[in-house]
Amino acid sequence: MNVKPDFSKNANLAATAPAFLSVYDMHAYYGESYIIQGISFNVHEGEILALLGRNGAGKTTTLRGIARMDDPQVTHGEIWLDHQHLHTMKSHQAAKAGIGLVPEDRSIIPGLTVEENLQLAQISEPVGWTIDRLYDLFPRLGERAKQEGVTLSGGEQQMLSIARALARDIKVLLLDEPYEGLAPVIVDEIEKTLIHIKEQGITTVIVEQNAVRALELADRSVILDTGSIVFDGSAAEVLENAELRAEYLAI
Ligand SMILES: Nc1ncnc2c1ncn2[C@@H]1O[C@H](COP(=O)(O)OP(=O)(O)OP(=O)(O)O)[C@@H](O)[C@H]1O
Ligand SMILES: [Mg+2]
Repeated sequence: MNVKPDFSKNANLAATAPAFLSVYDMHAYYGESYIIQGISFNVHEGEILALLGRNGAGKTTTLRGIARMDDPQVTHGEIWLDHQHLHTMKSHQAAKAGIGLVPEDRSIIPGLTVEENLQLAQISEPVGWTIDRLYDLFPRLGERAKQEGVTLSGGEQQMLSIARALARDIKVLLLDEPYEGLAPVIVDEIEKTLIHIKEQGITTVIVEQNAVRALELADRSVILDTGSIVFDGSAAEVLENAELRAEYLAI
């Protein structure tokens, strides 16, 4: 098994079966700081990919680069979603194209109820995820529809944040540490929802400190180390390989 950087397969990216989301030779900076140092990986339609690595490896930066946020500056590379080139887009255009970033801070809008938070997320007439359907997926949100979003518990806020992304009829869900600070029983609940979301055909990239939980959920995994990819393979392979986990995930 290869755990060293191996870009040989990435060099043939164009020749391989087209992926749903493709990152090709992405380089990204914060100001002068060179963070993402030429990464390439594919995410296939309907799969869950666990993007892992130690603190500071570049996971959040990668998600923000894909979502075309103003920071970091992606200076080189290509990002494709379902034949649309995201790399020429701004964040609002990438959102419209189907990217749903759920940031670590959960980004609930203060002063608005749960329902208003969801309504505001619906940029157009909902095609798939109506508010009723979101309440079916997250019954706790339905029960708290009139409560101010920022007063929800941590787990409920995470659910609202995911529901807000879905409300925009996204194709790809990018989750940055969705389990952070949550009790195991709430993690179980969110995990079940993520499985249901997958069954609806949505593609997910999950970044998580709780690597074992993420790997148990994921089909494949990409591991980053100081802005480069050191592993790209099945999630089961990472779970089975203690050496790899110790070296790059410290678990
Ligand atoms: N806004 C910023 N300005 C300058 N440097 C930044 C900024 N955000 C992140 N960095 C740096 O970029 C590197 C990668 O950060 P990133 O947040 O992507 O890591 P991460 O893998 O998500 O880590 P963690 O697991 O701690 O969340 C780190 O060295 C970090 O200090
Ligand atoms: Mg991070």
